[in-house]
Amino acid sequence: MAQVRLSGPYSGDRVTGSECVATKLDGELVIERIGAERLSDYCAVPSLVEVESILEVKEVDEGFGGLAMKLVPVPTPYIRNYDSYGHTPADWPAKWNVSNWCFFLATVDRKPVGAACVVTRTPEIRMLDGRDDLGVLWDIRVSPEYKRRGIGKALFDALVQWCREQGLKMLKIETQNVNVPACRFYASQGARLGAIHRFAYADATWSRPDVRDEVMLLWYYKL
Ligand SMILES: CC(C)(COP(=O)(O)OP(=O)(O)OC[C@H]1O[C@@H](n2cnc3c(N)ncnc32)[C@H](O)[C@@H]1OP(=O)(O)O)[C@@H](O)C(=O)NCCC(=O)NCCS
Repeated sequence: MAQVRLSGPYSGDRVTGSECVATKLDGELVIERIGAERLSDYCAVPSLVEVESILEVKEVDEGFGGLAMKLVPVPTPYIRNYDSYGHTPADWPAKWNVSNWCFFLATVDRKPVGAACVVTRTPEIRMLDGRDDLGVLWDIRVSPEYKRRGIGKALFDALVQWCREQGLKMLKIETQNVNVPACRFYASQGARLGAIHRFAYADATWSRPDVRDEVMLLWYYKL
């Protein structure tokens, strides 16, 4: 069993000191907080989902019973690449003011294998709902060959600790009904499904045709 070492590049920025966590890895996993100048390392980790089933959303009793979700297989499995939807992490600093954003990189024996980003206190980000006590988990990713070995959890633990240190009270997470692995992951970390938005991506003025039928799922984690 390998150990997880959590570190930060700047004094005062350490994530959790020398806490060690067992993982299913052979090498040394380091989770570190990085600055925007290292987003090229972040981009070395792809964000790929194997879509084999989706959470189908249906109205119950014409909506009077709310919405129900059911896991159904897709006829033709496919790969979703989140980096093909507009911007990659390297584009974020040019598009938004990232001074209150926090980036994490996970390496195994110094090789980037996972990454995560939390957005806080950025007025132009509507997902923050104008709140200063809310963080948005903007992105989390683990390289395909390193999935299911505890790296996502190690990243999540590190970013939760950072959010708490910032005085945030809630973490908001957006995903889609086609990303069942992410839903399972967020649920396993203790996040709770807060909203099912069926038509969030239906606006043809900005959304791509292949995502217009997807359903936005918002998960919330109490910090
Ligand atoms: C979501 C993601 C970051 C999870 O990372 P990970 O390192 O594989 O997750 P972990 O190994 O820490 O998993 C922790 C727990 O989450 C749950 N989980 C994670 N992936 C799962 C899957 N595919 N199916 C079922 N449960 C899953 C399990 O309970 C798991 O614990 P276990 O392995 O002991 O059963 C990873 O799947 C990923 O990179 N996905 C592509 C990018 C993406 O979808 N990002 C989110 C966009 S909204």
